[in-house]
Amino acid sequence: MRLPPSRAPGPGNKFETRMHVPKVFLTRRLPGSVMARLAVETDLALLPEDRAPTKAEILAGLSGREVLFCNITDRVDAEILSSPGLRVVANFGVGFNHIDVAAASARRIPVINTPGALTEATADLAFALLLATARRLGEGERLVRSGRWRGWEPLQLLGADVSGTTLGLVGFGRIGRAMADRARAFGMRLVYWNRTRLSPAEEAACDARYLPRDELLANSDFVSLHIAYTSDTHHLIDARALSLMRPHAILVNTARGAVVDEAALVIALRERRIGGAGLDVFEQEPLLAPGLAGLENCVVVPHLGSATSGTRARMGHMALDDLLAVCAGRKPKHCVNPAALE
Ligand code: DGY
Repeated sequence: MRLPPSRAPGPGNKFETRMHVPKVFLTRRLPGSVMARLAVETDLALLPEDRAPTKAEILAGLSGREVLFCNITDRVDAEILSSPGLRVVANFGVGFNHIDVAAASARRIPVINTPGALTEATADLAFALLLATARRLGEGERLVRSGRWRGWEPLQLLGADVSGTTLGLVGFGRIGRAMADRARAFGMRLVYWNRTRLSPAEEAACDARYLPRDELLANSDFVSLHIAYTSDTHHLIDARALSLMRPHAILVNTARGAVVDEAALVIALRERRIGGAGLDVFEQEPLLAPGLAGLENCVVVPHLGSATSGTRARMGHMALDDLLAVCAGRKPKHCVNPAALE
């Protein structure tokens, strides 16, 4: 389906010579306010059906298009990036491990993303998973819905305390720090590990103590992951890392599934080597590692970190503003490979 640009070049159109209307291929429908702007401010092409496109559909959709407006489920590889005339990749999301950024840079194609737009929503979800896992909300919900609940019992579904415990943050960027804000309000102590250690003044301001990663794992009651997925962080939380965690500790992952070795996690949860896991992301979405879905001591949700109406709209507008900027020869606010703009 092609949406006609309202400012399409044509006789009498005052934008005809002054305004370049970017030709965009959008892989999935976005929130209404973003779609409305796309219809007006771009020459938009998208598939008739709202579903994840195949690679062949992306390649066909890009024909004659200069912008690929994609999301985290589209694998944007070197072949897609070599589509003739492609000038910009705008990603509806902050994580960009699904895009071959090196191939984009080699072709001087800037890759735009949406950092900041989803910080609070993702931290909310991470904290919600922490609480839900600690307080066994998944099990409780299943019990009530099954009709097997027989009323209050002194020893029913006893969970873990949160207040007064230690939260270990693996990754202390925007989302890690927003998670720390929530944890402080719940009376938790904070330790963090990050590739780059904060200055003493920053650590004091965040009330967070740096620990080497293994020590953090061994000393935390909750461990929450807030790092980008790269070849360096692939299976960062593997069987060895899980074995360092306390037997009651709960792992929360809202980062990327493959930061955790999911098969090793299933074993650790099944054998109660750790207390539980709250997971928003999975190694092979939408598939779960065999055995994971049947475990009571984990809470699993379908990659909802940024899923609020306001956040998704902000993400869309942010990516759209930046793709328009690039097409108009201006500098975008967020670009993961700024050298491609030079
Ligand atoms: C992202 O943006 O990377 C999230 O995982 C989805 O919004």
